[in-house]
Amino acid sequence: MVNIDKNRLPRHIAIIMDGNGRWAKQHAMGRIRGHRKGAQAVRTTVTACREIGIAYLTLFAFSSENWGRPGEEVDALMNLLADYLDREASTLQEREIRLAAIGDIDKLYPPVRHKLLDIMKLTERNDKMVLNLALSYGSRDEIVGAVRKMVADQQSGKLSVEDIDKDRLAAYLYTAAMPDPDLLIRTSGEYRISNFLLWQLAYTELYFTDVLWPDFKKSDLLAAIAVYQRRERRFGLTSEQISGK
Ligand code: IPE
Ligand code: IPE
Ligand code: MG
Repeated sequence: MVNIDKNRLPRHIAIIMDGNGRWAKQHAMGRIRGHRKGAQAVRTTVTACREIGIAYLTLFAFSSENWGRPGEEVDALMNLLADYLDREASTLQEREIRLAAIGDIDKLYPPVRHKLLDIMKLTERNDKMVLNLALSYGSRDEIVGAVRKMVADQQSGKLSVEDIDKDRLAAYLYTAAMPDPDLLIRTSGEYRISNFLLWQLAYTELYFTDVLWPDFKKSDLLAAIAVYQRRERRFGLTSEQISGK
């Protein structure tokens, strides 16, 4: 097992869980079987993050663009999501994990939306970890939505133009109550962000792995954290400034 420093953990890990379709193809199965196997990797990863002591885990599970996939795949993904929520509710509660969601939740199929909102309510007082699911999520839509709300608030006198700054804008995003991710992991060997957390990733450390999401294990997570811990986050400053030398 890879050794990690428990005192320097990323507070917030975000994951673009990609490669379910290619995993299925490799195993001569249909794409939906790949998504089913991907749901198991979600369970493994949530458990591992809780054990390690990660405070926030954001999982990109369904993008605003994914609505454009074939109808049967969208249906299967919605069903899998409903199954996941049904099966995991009690585990999340036992492990004192709070469920949160970002994205255009109103667009989700009603059974999924209802289960999601119920479990968010059930777990709202849990404080050991936040599991944040990005569902029907697109970052550009999120930013446009924030701008719209700000303009409406300005017009109704709740917000003045002078008050608009980085922090104020961030407070209008879905992620208002969360710290920015420290570490972003994308599986399946794709090197892109795919409209995920464009604002929030400004200074996030990026980690790409060829592992397909259904094959992602605790050891892969630990490897990513170990790489993160070897990086120097400079936030635009010099190395000397950061190390205080
Ligand atoms: C990620 O796997 C899951 C979702 C986007 C919902 P993909 O379904 O994108 O798998 P690939 O990229 O086709 O292999
Ligand atoms: C990103 O994966 C979305 C999720 C993982 C939910 P995609 O497979 O949709 O992204 P692209 O199309 O390869 O950029
Ligand atoms: Mg993909």
